[in-house]
Amino acid sequence: MNPTLTCILLLLSSSGTLSKYVHVDKIWYRDPSLSYCRQYYTDLAPVNNERDIVELRKIKDDTGYILIGLERSSTDTNKWMWSGGGQVTRFFWASGEPRNETGRNYGSIDNNGWHSVYTYPRTFFCYRAIVVGEEKTWEEALEYCREHHDDLASVASETEMMLIQRELRKHNTTEHVWIGLRFLSRDWLWVDGQEIDYEAWGEGGKPLCPHPKMKCGALQVTGGSLSVWEAHDCEERRNFICY
Ligand SMILES: *[C@@H]1O[C@H](CO)[C@@H](O)[C@H](O)[C@H]1NC(C)=O
Ligand SMILES: *[C@@H]1O[C@H](CO)[C@@H](O)[C@H](O)[C@H]1NC(C)=O
Repeated sequence: MNPTLTCILLLLSSSGTLSKYVHVDKIWYRDPSLSYCRQYYTDLAPVNNERDIVELRKIKDDTGYILIGLERSSTDTNKWMWSGGGQVTRFFWASGEPRNETGRNYGSIDNNGWHSVYTYPRTFFCYRAIVVGEEKTWEEALEYCREHHDDLASVASETEMMLIQRELRKHNTTEHVWIGLRFLSRDWLWVDGQEIDYEAWGEGGKPLCPHPKMKCGALQVTGGSLSVWEAHDCEERRNFICY
C-alpha cells in the first residue's frame, strides 16, 4: 500500500471532530428546528452509535438538553423513530428514560445520554453530508475531504443512508460516488474509524477478496430504492461525499 495513505489513515482514524453533526445555537421549538435542518442541511441528526454519543455528550449547552432527530411513533407510543426516516434500533437512554408522560414525544441528548422531552425551545443538532461535484480518485477525494471538511463520509445506519441519498438527489452526480469505505489488511473499514455495524452491500454481498485494484467503496446512486455499496477501482474519477 501507498505509504502516504497509511500515514493519513493512521493520523486521522482517531479524529474526534464530528462535522456530520452541526450544533445550531438557536433556541427554538422542535418544528422550526426540523424545518431549519431540512432547509440548510439534511434533517435533525440521528445519533445512533456509541462513538458519536460520547463525542456529542462533551458539547455543553445552557439549556441542558440538545434536541436530536428522535421522535415517538404516532401509531405506537412504545416505538421511537428518526425524523430522517427509519426506526431506532440501538438505544442510549439515560437512566429512568424514556419517561412516558403524554407529550414527551421527542428526544434530546445531554451528558447522560438520551432524554424524552416535550417540544420546548432548545438548541439542536442537524445532520450534514456534503456532496462534492468534483471528479477525483478515491485517494484525492479523501485528501480533499480532510483538507476542506472532516472526512470522506461513512454510513453508520440505514437512516444515514437515507439522508445521504436525500442529499444526492439535490445534485447531479456521477453514477457512483466515493464514500470512506476501504479494503485494508483483509477487511473493509471506514477510514474515519466508525465501526461497520450497518452494511448495505449490493448483489453478491461484501467482496471478501476483492481484485487488488478494486479496494475502494462507492455508493451506487439510485433514484427510488436505497443505494447500495460496491467495490470499485480506486483510480476511477468520481464525485464524493464528505462530512
Ligand atoms: C416507558 O415505556 C417503555 C415501553 O413500555 C418502557 O420500556 C419504559 O421503561 C417506560 N419508562 C418509564 C420511566 O417507566
Ligand atoms: C441536472 O442536469 C440537468 C441537465 O443538464 C439540468 O437540467 C438540471 O437542472 C440539473 N439539476 C441540478 C440539481 O443541478
